Amino acid sequence: MDISEMRREFESSGLNEEDLNQDPIIQFENWFQDARNAGILEPNAMSLATVDNTGQPTLRTVLLKYFDEHGFVFFTNYESRKAQNIEAHPQAAALFPWIGLNRQVSVQGKVRRISKAESFKYFSSRPRESQIGAWVSDQSKAINSRGLLEQKLAEMKRKFGDGKIPLPSFWGGYQIVPERIEFWQGRPHRLHDRFEYLKEESGWTTQRLQP
Ligand SMILES: Cc1cc2nc3c(=O)[nH]c(=O)nc-3n(C[C@H](O)[C@H](O)[C@H](O)COP(=O)(O)O)c2cc1C
Repeated sequence: MDISEMRREFESSGLNEEDLNQDPIIQFENWFQDARNAGILEPNAMSLATVDNTGQPTLRTVLLKYFDEHGFVFFTNYESRKAQNIEAHPQAAALFPWIGLNRQVSVQGKVRRISKAESFKYFSSRPRESQIGAWVSDQSKAINSRGLLEQKLAEMKRKFGDGKIPLPSFWGGYQIVPERIEFWQGRPHRLHDRFEYLKEESGWTTQRLQP
């Protein structure tokens, strides 16, 4: 198979300055809604990039759980590889690849832990199995067999019985506080539209970038 021959014209209509909201969070909300309406599978799935002490980036998918003017929040294990990266270098990049709409949104910024109360609020809303699952996995650590995980699951189920599942101290949310957000719209002849929002002291500025 020769994948170098795979290409497609982007027939989408364009993205003009007048169509853009001055607030990138509202712009994101509009595009997120478009992605949902278009039936894109898991439109809240984002590729999250972090770096380690050697500068080596790692990418993985996480689910955006909410966003507002303060940032983009996802949940994870605070001892995972990504968390270790973030604790050492509290910066990240996230990408929403809405290819079915010929669009992508790219976000960069600083990362901070959300409060325990906020994490608890979300944790409590999760299905019980997911809550127990958070207790079972030492995320990103090696394990000799799946059987050991299943054993731990059974142990945790016994331990918690029918009671409430507490929020693990090692689990919670991170918020990406955006400093740069780029909206990309594919156009014919590879003359794609790109708009970059940059966070300045006075607010957000916008500029068009060459494709
Ligand atoms: C569609 C999808 C959604 C995922 N959502 C999350 C998530 O919200 N949080 C999470 O910790 N891992 C999630 N994962 C698993 C991560 O991609 C990753 O394997 C895990 O977090 C360990 O990453 P790390 O070792 O780099 O820390 C998801 C994977 C997929 C494919």
